[in-house]
Parts: sequence; C-alpha cells; structure tokens
Amino acid sequence: MQYSLKQVEKTYKVWGRYPFLYKLACLVTFIGQENKLRKLAIDALELQQGDTVLDLACGTGLNHELLEKAVGTNGKIIAFDYSIEMLTAAKQRAVKHKWNNIIFMQGDAAELSLDEKVDGVISTLGVSAIPQHKEALKRAVDVLKNEKRISILDAQLPTGFWKIFNPVIAHVYKNWASWDYTKKIQEDLFEVVGDVKIKKYNGGTIFIATGTKT
Ligand SMILES: C[S@@+](CC[C@H](N)C(=O)[O-])C[C@H]1O[C@@H](n2cnc3c(N)ncnc32)[C@H](O)[C@@H]1O
Repeated sequence: MQYSLKQVEKTYKVWGRYPFLYKLACLVTFIGQENKLRKLAIDALELQQGDTVLDLACGTGLNHELLEKAVGTNGKIIAFDYSIEMLTAAKQRAVKHKWNNIIFMQGDAAELSLDEKVDGVISTLGVSAIPQHKEALKRAVDVLKNEKRISILDAQLPTGFWKIFNPVIAHVYKNWASWDYTKKIQEDLFEVVGDVKIKKYNGGTIFIATGTKT
C-alpha cells in the first residue's frame, strides 16, 4: 500500500480546516488515552529546558503544549508538516497560547533538512502517514545530535478478539487518514538507529518506539 503526497495533501486539507474534528478523531484513535500517551512519547525524549525539538508531521500541533513545558520558553520547537492547512491550524494554536518559540516548516519529511541539529525528534501518528517513511526516518535521525533520542508513537491494527473489526478500522483510517498499517515502523526505525525500545499500549493498538542515536 503506497500513498502519494497528493493524497496526503487532499486528506489533511480537510482535517486542517476542521481541527476540532481532527481532535475528536484523535480521542477515538487513542481510546480516551490521548494526553497520557502523548506525554509518555515526549517524556521518552528526556528533553531539558532550552532544548530544540523537532515535531515531525506535527499536524495541528497537539503535541505543542507538552513540548512547550518540556523545553521551556528558552527552548525551541521545529514544527514540520506537509499540509499547509494542518500547519495553519498549528500556527493558530500557537498564537492563541502565545507560544513564540515555534518555527513552522512546510515540506516533505522524506526531504527534510535543517540548518541545525536537534536534541530530540518526536512523531506522533505521523510516520504511518508519510509516503516515503523510511527516507523520512533516515533524515530525522540525521538531524539528531549524538546520544539524543527519537520517539515514534504510532498505531497498529488490533490483534486477538478485536481483530474482527480490522476490515472496518483499516478501511476508515486508510481513506480518512492516509494510514498505511502495513508499514513495519519499528523494524524500519531499528534500521536507522540501532538502539530501539518498544512499549505497547491500548491493547497493542498504540506503540511508542524510542531510539537513541549513537
Ligand atoms: C495523523 S496526522 C498526525 C498529526 C500529529 N502528529 C498528531 O499527533 O496529531 C498525520 C500528519 O502527517 C502529515 N504528513 C503526511 N505525509 C507527510 C510528509 N511526507 N511530510 C510531512 N508531513 C506529512 C500530514 O500532513 C498530517 O498532518
């Protein structure tokens, strides 16, 4: 299953225009555990005040409140996304909260390049939507400082009893979120950053994979 950037653009144009609906979709995806799981993924980076963090495929900026707390006003968030509409929603959130230390960048994560190295990379529900995700992971690790971490939170289809719902879940998220559930994100992260730890939540439907650059 390979999505194109055109599909990403089309899908997220809609979600970006209705960020409150996107937020509702997140509540469903995380089965009510959204804040807890976002925080766990961010805590895994062990960010310090003053750090610079890259939020890869940042969407409407739902990680930014937690990232602001983690890096402080003297730190910096680089918010990167392909969708202009998702970035616009993230910018509006930043204005509303008076977060002045976020740099917004539009582009394809598979072509990511930054003028600086960062102290952490977070991507939540992003990698599964990025068409050339392996290249994006490689680029993300390239911009990371040595000994620093990348934390990938993403979703996978349920196993066990709940797998009877897989055809419906796959259909909905494939068409409405450009979600490619066939990607082997954990293995692909391991390819680019040897040291990876995986934790699973919500009956295995959400995982957090944390890699340290050596
Ligand atoms: C499900 S949303 C996740 C957004 C956000 N990280 C969150 O946790 O709510 C997937 C995001 O990936 C972005 N995306 C997909 N392909 C991309 C690419 N090639 N480069 C950058 N962003 C991309 C989409 O625009 C969308 O904002």
